[in-house]
Amino acid sequence: MKVRKAVIPVAGLGTRFLPATKAIPKEMLTIVDRPTIQYIVEEVVASGIDQIIFVTSEGKSAIENHFDYNFHLDAVLKEKNKTILGEELNNISNLIDIVSVRQKKPLGLGHAIWTARNVIGDEPFMVLLGDDMVLSKVPCAKQLLDLFDEVGESIVAIQRVPMEETSQYGIIEGEKTDREKTYKVKRMVEKPAPGTTDSDMAIIGRYILMPEIFDILDTTTPGHGGEIQLTDALLALTRRRAMYAQEFEGTRFDAGDKMGYLKAIIAYGLRHPALGKQLRAHLKEVVATL
Ligand code: G1P
Repeated sequence: MKVRKAVIPVAGLGTRFLPATKAIPKEMLTIVDRPTIQYIVEEVVASGIDQIIFVTSEGKSAIENHFDYNFHLDAVLKEKNKTILGEELNNISNLIDIVSVRQKKPLGLGHAIWTARNVIGDEPFMVLLGDDMVLSKVPCAKQLLDLFDEVGESIVAIQRVPMEETSQYGIIEGEKTDREKTYKVKRMVEKPAPGTTDSDMAIIGRYILMPEIFDILDTTTPGHGGEIQLTDALLALTRRRAMYAQEFEGTRFDAGDKMGYLKAIIAYGLRHPALGKQLRAHLKEVVATL
């Protein structure tokens, strides 16, 4: 069983980032020199997946255009002899096969994933949430795929978070396995009320799911926040077959949050081959003088 397809839900309104996201999708906000969604797509490509399914909504065509071939721009760049830039842009459109499906109503993450069911069919697939950006040596998606090669069951990526933040995440309870940083999932709950969980293991937006999840989502009723929650469907899946959780290696940024986004800009800027050194020097100076 190979994981060949990845679903990236991009239908969300991005209200946490208004007014920046009034006229552009939040996934098109820039980190250094590319939109956040491009980092996610590059992670998928670097992990060896063949196809991406964007779950979109009205007003998200800029994302599709970004990964498309722009004939007009290409012609203008050629005319101006800006061939290197032209090639860079064409590379973006040749990264990977992309399909889009529409989520017709904002009914929640579980519903967004369910919307991709006919394109996925009967095979395991990956889910990546665009708000979660992970800087790591081995792409986070690849770390999960390596575990999938061993266990052949659903996997959620997790990270330990301070107890006072558990109410912002899906939280799992699990049993340690023999494999390092890997747990067998026992229970999970979406955004538990403060003080109602002892676990600090938070789900981060990377999953590998068995196709049975679609049958479960068919009948999953609205949960936290009145939305059809993926976490509720995952809990039901754990009752049918095994599920694993893996603490991944890397630094995660919540790019859907203003502070997380600023931290991501700094981290990706410091790692940028052409800009990193200068930015490091500048940051030292700013911290000392402001
Ligand atoms: C979603 C999931 C949640 C997970 C989080 C990770 O929540 O529902 O289980 O912990 O992503 O970023 P959201 O942040 O979209 O509300």
